[in-house]
Amino acid sequence: MPAFVTGRLLGKFRGASLRIPLLLVVALTVSALAFTGSGCRPYKKGEALYKIHCANCHMPDGTGLEGNIPPLASSDYFSKNPVAAACIIRNGLQDTIRVNGRVYSQPMAAIPKLSELEITNIINYIGHSWGNRTPYLSLANVRKALEECN
Ligand code: HEC
Repeated sequence: MPAFVTGRLLGKFRGASLRIPLLLVVALTVSALAFTGSGCRPYKKGEALYKIHCANCHMPDGTGLEGNIPPLASSDYFSKNPVAAACIIRNGLQDTIRVNGRVYSQPMAAIPKLSELEITNIINYIGHSWGNRTPYLSLANVRKALEECN
């Protein structure tokens, strides 16, 4: 085989062997970006609203304030009936409740300005954070619960 043909063939191979890893890197970067953009933090709106309306009492990590503010993190009270949180947010709560074995009796003020959609986003964020794993609630679930608050 003449030298220039071998050279061109080699060149082709070298080009191809460079191109494949390059494509792989591009594909991996794109899928990694897609993952961080959507898959990792699907409850961003709820998280933002939580920080504004709830975190100053229940703390950014949902642990509450010992003896005064009940936790939302791994809360048995919340997890038993997550949709009931809709009425708590809309109307507040003045009760003596037991959360994870501790009694709380400070009242929580109503937050009436939050829309049904905002409440849904907040509950879904809490339900998928800090050890909670409650079923996803739709806007219709929350709307129905809000209509039936007493
Ligand atoms: C001003 C402080 C304060 C703010 C702000 C506040 N809470 Fe509360 N929350 C409390 C207190 C105190 C209780 C206990 C009420 C009782 O014992 O009657 C409570 C109880 C709860 C409970 C039931 C108990 C539990 O831990 O599972 C849920 C759910 C809840 N809050 C969610 C929220 C959400 C969501 C927000 C934001 C939209 C919010 N709270 C904002 C103080 C607050």
